[in-house]
Amino acid sequence: MSENIITFESVSYRYPDGTGALDNCSLEIRRGARTAVLGANGAGKTTMFLHLNGILRPSAGRVYWEEQPLDYSRNGLRKLRSRVGLVFQNPDNQLFSASVREDVSFGPMNQGLEESIVRKRVEDALLAVGMTAAADKPVHNLSYGQKKRVCIAGVLAMEPDVIVLDEPMAGLDAVMQEELTGILERMHTSGMTIIIATHDLDFAFGWADNVTVLHAGQLLASGNPSGILLREDVRTTLGATPLVAEITSRLSLIGVDLHDKENLPRNKSDLLHALAIYTRKEHTP
Ligand SMILES: Nc1ncnc2c1ncn2[C@@H]1O[C@H](COP(=O)(O)OP(=O)(O)OP(=O)(O)O)[C@@H](O)[C@H]1O
Ligand SMILES: [Mg+2]
Repeated sequence: MSENIITFESVSYRYPDGTGALDNCSLEIRRGARTAVLGANGAGKTTMFLHLNGILRPSAGRVYWEEQPLDYSRNGLRKLRSRVGLVFQNPDNQLFSASVREDVSFGPMNQGLEESIVRKRVEDALLAVGMTAAADKPVHNLSYGQKKRVCIAGVLAMEPDVIVLDEPMAGLDAVMQEELTGILERMHTSGMTIIIATHDLDFAFGWADNVTVLHAGQLLASGNPSGILLREDVRTTLGATPLVAEITSRLSLIGVDLHDKENLPRNKSDLLHALAIYTRKEHTP
């Protein structure tokens, strides 16, 4: 099995109205990795995601699945879409059935699975996103956050190898964000490859194994979060740095070194833990 599950080779994309949205992007997505895609509004994140499951086809360059060029035939796309699940930025673009259960069943039913298996997958997916009690509700009566959960359940029920989420945290309250973080953790543990577009730098810094930064359709940087997110050009394009990284680096300027290079605190609890250890050391005679 190849290490890279998806590869972009010099991909450019121009919309039919002439807007250039991706410009010569090359990228490798490692199997099982957690990738965060960052970039300002209009940078090209959604356009990139629509290439991952073949909704858009590059104007130039190529996309590969396990080292093979994508097969854009009807059958090829059907197979690809059962392996790459895309959760859209706006849930209203994704949900179309009358009830929650019907909507979540659609993907696995289309995969031609037996009815009993579909039923089990749907119940498991609804349970995973905490929507079991709402299974028979009409989709249009749900709140925004609940619609987002149903979209995630619809993709989970297909058991894809790769799950692509376009700004999943946007519009969710803090409790739902925390729960979604838990869902993502379980997906990662089960071996899924996860790709997320987000404007939340603190989340990306704490969660991702790899961050990819787009700027005006070009790939500005891709790699380890601590290596990338403190870069000056990245800070300029994103307009900020992750808070925990900023605090750690400011403390280091005044002589408080909380980490060795390999172990930069990645989230609030790491930072507090590192501070506690540091203060204890400081006070040891
Ligand atoms: N259907 C379309 N037709 C023409 N241009 C489009 C279309 N969809 C997107 N674009 C343009 O392509 C560029 C990239 O847009 P895209 O939606 O990929 O950005 P994004 O990084 O997802 O932004 P956001 O953070 O706002 O979601 C923008 O200039 C946008 O105006
Ligand atoms: Mg977008």
